Amino acid sequence: MAISKSYTNNEIEVFWHTALCIHSENCVNSLNAVFNPKQKPWINMQAASTEKIINAVNNCPSGALKYKWSIEMEEEKQNEQSLTNIKVNAGGPYLVKGPVVVVDKDGSKTIKEGTIALCRCGGSQNKPYCDGSHKNIEFDK
Ligand code: FES
Repeated sequence: MAISKSYTNNEIEVFWHTALCIHSENCVNSLNAVFNPKQKPWINMQAASTEKIINAVNNCPSGALKYKWSIEMEEEKQNEQSLTNIKVNAGGPYLVKGPVVVVDKDGSKTIKEGTIALCRCGGSQNKPYCDGSHKNIEFDK
């Protein structure tokens, strides 16, 4: 589910999923100072207390409005940064953001800092690393 827009007051962040909104106007009717489609942006997070905003969000019948505590989001961001990041490069290799340990078929280990490119086309002469041979091979992009 794609998040369309988000708004924060530094305590919480409110997410509005436009595709889910059924325009019940529960939010508008219960807390118009914050949820007002006649103003831009239509959600003004400074216009009421966090508690009142949370109550209005919880009354959204479609789930188009959600919230998360900012501290919770910061923790998630820090957890995500500590995870290994692997990006599928369209028409090319897997890009792995290190540091990582590469263990080859003989069991020898090499620590790689920075980003490494791992072959996903099968054509490299320097496996597991990409050597650019994918440019001559048709494979799933
Ligand atoms: S992905 Fe580059 S050589 Fe295989």
